[in-house]
Order: sequence, then C-alpha cells, then structure tokens
Amino acid sequence: MNIIFVAPPAAGKGTYSSLLKSKYGFTHISAGDVLREEVNKKTPLGEEVNEIMERGEMINDDIMCKLIESKLNSIDLNIPFMLDGFPRKLNQAKCLEEILERLKINVDKVIFINISKETGLKRILGRISCPVCKRIYNLENPNLTPKNANLCDDCNVELTSRVDDKEEAYITRYDIYMSETLPLIDYYKEKGKLVEIDGSGTVEEVFENIVKSLGVKND
Ligand code: AP5
Ligand code: MG
Repeated sequence: MNIIFVAPPAAGKGTYSSLLKSKYGFTHISAGDVLREEVNKKTPLGEEVNEIMERGEMINDDIMCKLIESKLNSIDLNIPFMLDGFPRKLNQAKCLEEILERLKINVDKVIFINISKETGLKRILGRISCPVCKRIYNLENPNLTPKNANLCDDCNVELTSRVDDKEEAYITRYDIYMSETLPLIDYYKEKGKLVEIDGSGTVEEVFENIVKSLGVKND
C-alpha cells in the first residue's frame, strides 16, 4: 500500500512516516529531506533551493517533479512507500500521476493530518532533529525531548533546528499551504482516496488513528 501525507507544516508528517517506517517497513520519501540533501551537497541547485526554503516558499514544480521521480526510480517499488510533502499543489499531483503511470504503480491512500496554525507554530519553535538519522524531537513536549540535552538518543550526535523553523518562514509556509495545498484535499476526496486524521492529539493517539485508517494492526 503506497501512501501520500498531505498536511500543514509541523502536523507530524515526518514523525508518523518515521513510525510507519520502523513498525511496518514502509520506504519514507520526504520532499523536504530530498531538498535538504541537495542543499548539503552544496551544488548550484542546492544553493538556490536553500534560499527559497529559508523564506518558506515553494520550489519550482519541474525541479520537484524531477527530484521525486529520480527518488522513486532509486527505490524498490515492491516495498510500500510514503510520500511526505509531495505533491503539495494540484500541478504536482498531476505530474505525480504521470510519474506513477510511467512506473506502473498506484497510490492507495492520501492521509490528511489536520492541525491549527497556532498548534503548528508551537511545534515548529520547539522542534530539533538529528542531522544523521533525521529523528525528530520537540523541546516543548516532555514526551518528545531527547534523553540527554541536545544529543540524539540513537546517534549521540548534536541535534539541530531547521533554517525555516522561524516564525516568519512558518507563517509563509502555512499561508502557501492554505492557498496551494488545501485544494488537494477535495481532489483526492473525489478520487475516494482521502482519509482525514485529527493531528491535535498525542503522537500515540494520532498514530493509532493513522494505523486504523490503513487497516493494519498496531501492536
Ligand atoms: P518540509 O520539510 O516538508 O516541511 P513542512 O511541510 O513545512 O513540514 P515539516 O517538516 O515542518 O513538518 P512535519 O509535518 O514533517 O512535522 P514533524 O513530524 O517534523 O518542507 C520544507 C520546505 O521544502 C518547504 O517549505 C518548501 O520550501 C520545500 N518543499 C518541500 N516539499 C515541496 C514541494 N512538494 N514543492 C515545493 N517545495 C517543497 O513534527 C513537527 C514537530 O511537532 C516535531 O518537533 C514533532 O516532535 C512534534 N510533534 C509531532 N506530532 C506531535 C503531536 N501529536 N503532539 C505534539 N508534538 C508533535
Ligand atoms: Mg517534515
């Protein structure tokens, strides 16, 4: 079963993708991580992308579609995958359909995790993550803090915050989500693929609802 996560910034796309990956073996494709890898390579494209991401704006559709197609070409498509953060606008949804047609595969479910703008802002300001294994923590939530201040529980590497986790960039990201990404909800609803999940509960509660919606066992 292949899945798309559509959600506002900080709704938990990365958190729940990572749980589904470790519990059920899904391959995780995060559009943001694909871009951050490009930034880390310090290529001319990476430098251009970094400036756009820092402002909280969207990367050009052609670039995005090429990066995602190349990622999908590099994975074992017999293993279910999750697309986290792609598509995020109608044009990208259409381009994804062309990619899937070329690869002769389908997406089965689109999980829409819903949270308010205020909840997202609180989460963004508390988020830190591991630059090596990408594990995500939150300093504002006692259940999501690392065991040793600022060090990854798994890698012992220093945790960092993202360049776009500032209030101004978050507001831009949220506004773009409202104007560009929200139309995807109706688009996938009409295709009968949409599942809406309330993202305001605890990680455990939200994850349980996601798992239920996928019809797999959570034990
Ligand atoms: P991307 O990296 O995808 O950022 P985003 O969509 O803004 O989402 P986030 O990664 O911020 O949040 P998340 O939903 O993954 O939440 P997380 O699990 O971390 O994209 C970054 C940028 O890349 C974009 O702004 C754009 O510039 C570019 N880009 C990406 N895709 C693109 C595309 N398709 N087209 C064009 N440009 C694109 O959780 C957040 C925090 O909350 C964490 O600290 C976590 O611990 C905590 N948390 C999670 N769940 C809970 C809970 N239930 N209760 C309390 N805290 C929780
Ligand atoms: Mg993320």
